[in-house]
Amino acid sequence: KQQPIIVQGPMPIEAENFAERLDNVEEEKSGSFVFYKGTVNDYPVIVAKTGKGMENTAAATAIAIEKYDPAAIINQGTSGGHDPNLHVYDIVLGERVTNIGSMKTGNRADGEGIAPKEWIPMDLMASEGSAGEDPDAENIRYFEGDEELLAAAQAVKDVHEKGKVVEGTIGSADVWNNEVDRIQWFHEKYGTSVEEMEGAAGAQIAKEYEVPYLGIRILSNNKVNGGEYDPNTAEANQAYVYEVVKEYISKQ
Ligand code: 5AD
Repeated sequence: KQQPIIVQGPMPIEAENFAERLDNVEEEKSGSFVFYKGTVNDYPVIVAKTGKGMENTAAATAIAIEKYDPAAIINQGTSGGHDPNLHVYDIVLGERVTNIGSMKTGNRADGEGIAPKEWIPMDLMASEGSAGEDPDAENIRYFEGDEELLAAAQAVKDVHEKGKVVEGTIGSADVWNNEVDRIQWFHEKYGTSVEEMEGAAGAQIAKEYEVPYLGIRILSNNKVNGGEYDPNTAEANQAYVYEVVKEYISKQ
């Protein structure tokens, strides 16, 4: 039996367009998560409408793996630019994804204030001990995008005509950053190309189950270069990811 490919999208505008492209669709729900089970070129593909944020994404990823035993997972949707060379409608392939909300603060006593630029990245997967005390945990954890999925995405990048397609680093947290200095701090310290609220959560669970995974994120906004929010980017990304999925299937 063929193992399905799962395509995740957080918001309705980031999932339903792809779901409409499926043939033979059946809808299945688990909690608030909606799974559109169908086919693309007779190959099983399941679109997962996960809801926004890290928790929803982690849960929806674990449930999908347990229920459907997928061959691969693509997490896709919109994002905000951290790189001034990226513009609204450009697409970032997640060569790496990292959790930019996982941090340890500096030591400051009562009255010594708050200093976010001193905060230290914290890798919760470094050991089973206390992340607050373990020096090995004072690191940025990067989850690598799957090579085969990246190759499929690269092979069809010319179909996306509204912007460029590049490999980069996706940063995720349940935070929407509007402070340009903070965005630049992430861009320099973590090498982030874009930020969103899901990719690293899905990547972590996929890694725990050893399922191939890739984040594919279109810029819907970019504070760094004045790129205004455009919700139509969500549909353009799904059109591109549909081509990626067909390419990936053709190699199975
Ligand atoms: N910062 C954080 N999340 C963003 N998203 C789009 N742009 C940004 C941004 N600048 C995505 C998130 C989430 C929703 C708010 O849109 O992934 O699903």
